Amino acid sequence: MRRNHSIVLDLTEQCNLKCIMCYFSGTDRLRFEPYDRSLSERGTMPVEVFEKIAAEYFPRAHRVALACAAEPMIHPKFRDILEIAGRYRVPDLWFPTNLLPLIERTAEAIVAAGVTTIGASIDGVTRETYEKIRIGGKWDRLIARLNLLNEVKAKHGSKHPKLRIIFTWMKSNRHELRMLPAFAAEHGASELDVRFVTPTTGVDVSPELLDDEDADALRAELRATAHDAVARGLKLASFPEFETEADRPRSLVGRARRRLFNIRSGIERWEHWQHLWRERANGCAYPGRTFVIRPNGAVAPCIFWQAEPIGFQPDDDATTIAEGAPLTRIREGLRTGSPVGTCATCIHRRDAFYRPLRRSESVEPLGTET
Ligand SMILES: C[S@@+](CC[C@H](N)C(=O)[O-])C[C@H]1O[C@@H](n2cnc3c(N)ncnc32)[C@H](O)[C@@H]1O
Repeated sequence: MRRNHSIVLDLTEQCNLKCIMCYFSGTDRLRFEPYDRSLSERGTMPVEVFEKIAAEYFPRAHRVALACAAEPMIHPKFRDILEIAGRYRVPDLWFPTNLLPLIERTAEAIVAAGVTTIGASIDGVTRETYEKIRIGGKWDRLIARLNLLNEVKAKHGSKHPKLRIIFTWMKSNRHELRMLPAFAAEHGASELDVRFVTPTTGVDVSPELLDDEDADALRAELRATAHDAVARGLKLASFPEFETEADRPRSLVGRARRRLFNIRSGIERWEHWQHLWRERANGCAYPGRTFVIRPNGAVAPCIFWQAEPIGFQPDDDATTIAEGAPLTRIREGLRTGSPVGTCATCIHRRDAFYRPLRRSESVEPLGTET
């Protein structure tokens, strides 16, 4: 069976922290549409539902993320979830987490399940900054959890899970970005994921946005950090652009060096070319390849989708959802240039190469138009 699907799940609707830039600072529970649907009282995905989802989706998945918007390790049955996920030997099984709920038994279960990557969100490399941003998080506990993970890996002689450090860049930690590569290398990380803080619902992030800062200075800090990280052997799993068109070298040698750096750093990798190709061929790389499954069972075609779900787990099965009318209309709309639902205003949409000259008139808007 070809593994060409990417599955993004959320196992819980909650988090143990209230980070200053996150929607959880304004709510105890993140609800997903439709808001009146819940699979459990506390909003955690029941293990039986996860087991059904895993059986239907994981054999065809090259990547499974066990979390996206909430904290997965506070799921009361997280070790059972890991055991089930591990059965399918998904090539890229990963999850983002604040790492604080990690205990030894869970670390053992993570290694046993063959989790490939843990994305630990830290946002600060000093006690002061970390505890200022990650409200409820304790620096000593973070360091202890990082050490625990490394000890359990060493005990099993396992290179996995790889550690990816996630750093959301904002005013409060601007000065610490440059220290990030040294911190990451010191704590056994192999990858960095750096992203700008962005506006989100339920919290005013305007004091933290870097939009009003000098763009050249920001790019210079990013460039220096990227080069430092790569010199330390770290990959850039995700990293903001730090080059403008004008910065790009013109000479053959300069262009070759730039390409080599991009390949060495992971900025350019096969997956990106595949993504770009699918985007141009289909108008968007996600629908039909990506299935986002919320803790209330709602299934969406990508993480940006805000309109009506394309199906519901556990009521519908994966094939019915993949071949059903809602997803077909979304894909047809993208291909023909008549996008429906959230795609109509989405910035990730492009014109498909094979878009017919006449728009399909059979495409109806789906769910809430945005
Ligand atoms: C919302 S958390 C959920 C998963 C998990 N609890 C964690 O801490 O990684 C996922 C990531 O989103 C980032 N994040 C939170 N608010 C953000 C914002 N306003 N802009 C950009 N990233 C944000 C966090 O720093 C974290 O790395």
